[in-house]
Amino acid sequence: MTNQAKFLTPALAVAPPAPGLDDVIAAETMLSFVDGEAGRLVVRGHELAEIAGQGYEAVLALLWRDLAPGTMDRNALRAALGEARVRVHQQLLPLLPATDGLSQVEALRLLLSALGDEESSPHHVVAVAAVAVFTAAIARRRAGAPPVAPDAALSLSADLLRMLHGTPAAREKIDALDAYLVTVADHGLNASTFTARVITSTRAGLFSSVVGGLCALKGPLHGGAPGPVLDMLDAIGEESRIRPWIVDALARGERLMGFGHRIYRVRDPRADVLKAVVSNLRENAARIRFAEKVESEALALLARKKPLRPLQTNVEFYTALVLEAVGFPRESFTNVFAVGRMAGWTAHVLEQEKTGRLIRPQSSYVGPMPEAAAARQA
Ligand code: ACO
Repeated sequence: MTNQAKFLTPALAVAPPAPGLDDVIAAETMLSFVDGEAGRLVVRGHELAEIAGQGYEAVLALLWRDLAPGTMDRNALRAALGEARVRVHQQLLPLLPATDGLSQVEALRLLLSALGDEESSPHHVVAVAAVAVFTAAIARRRAGAPPVAPDAALSLSADLLRMLHGTPAAREKIDALDAYLVTVADHGLNASTFTARVITSTRAGLFSSVVGGLCALKGPLHGGAPGPVLDMLDAIGEESRIRPWIVDALARGERLMGFGHRIYRVRDPRADVLKAVVSNLRENAARIRFAEKVESEALALLARKKPLRPLQTNVEFYTALVLEAVGFPRESFTNVFAVGRMAGWTAHVLEQEKTGRLIRPQSSYVGPMPEAAAARQA
């Protein structure tokens, strides 16, 4: 190495990680395990398919068990969440007009930011209640309707649909939303969960951590994809256009929304759970048949275009169909995702708080050193 080269880049003790940190293990967790090669998701010792039908409160109880102070069973949790929804509605919804002009996810970001760290109730319970109340109220305001007060006696899924539509939802729709929220509740160290853990490690508090998580979720490469999945289905329009539309999109270098995943090299197991959920919603049969045709054509064309990079259906593809079927406007899909993922964010925050260690990785400096300029002048 010449003297000048030595000054340009400081010696590295280890090779720098890949740009997306794919191979870096940045935390230990007992919350969930994603096996990308086998297409498997385990949540605290349970296969996803095993817990998908048990309800959102049950998965919250599972994720928070032994981590949250005053651990509750699903029934106690249901009551605590109901009370927290009523309180959030009374205290924070007066801020709703301030969200006018923002996208729905930006509106949620603003309202969640208003949660005060002095709030005395358990913050993890309030965070879950708040994201549900805000999601419904924001969607209604964009449709020109006033917010609907929560019903503390209902499950979170039943109340979320009731607060959205203004009338009680059908059982099959409540069950579909419940299964969706469980399906996306936690998923290893994804970008938003990692963000929440980093913020927690600075002791900024749970509300700040989950607002950070939401900011990371907002992007189309993470939680912002399901709305665009429906845009894609609408743009394709009819069966005869499926193949030419996808061929053109890929030729333009576009990404097909709802396909590909950083971890899964086989089909995302959550897509299967949600496909079964949406198939049970009878009124949607034609839409689902069309989506299935788009899916199989997309998979065939992606395999042809990227033979060395397995690109399979991800959770967002069938998420779009479930959320459309239960009546959410597509602009609110990311917020509904945040309702589900709030379970994981809060559990990871509680788990991270137990380690107490500030997350502070190192970077490898590849810029010039002052000595290099001096060497050049010499
Ligand atoms: N459509 C077309 N091409 C794709 C797609 C796609 N959906 N996904 C990846 N590719 C291509 C890339 O263009 C890239 O090609 P190149 O090597 O010629 O540049 C190659 O496959 C590898 O892609 P990467 O960017 O390395 O894959 P990465 O692991 O970073 O991306 C991601 C994963 C972001 C999910 C990607 O597949 C994508 O953008 N999908 C579409 C958006 C989407 O569905 N997001 C939701 C993800 S699920 C979730 O977060 C809950």
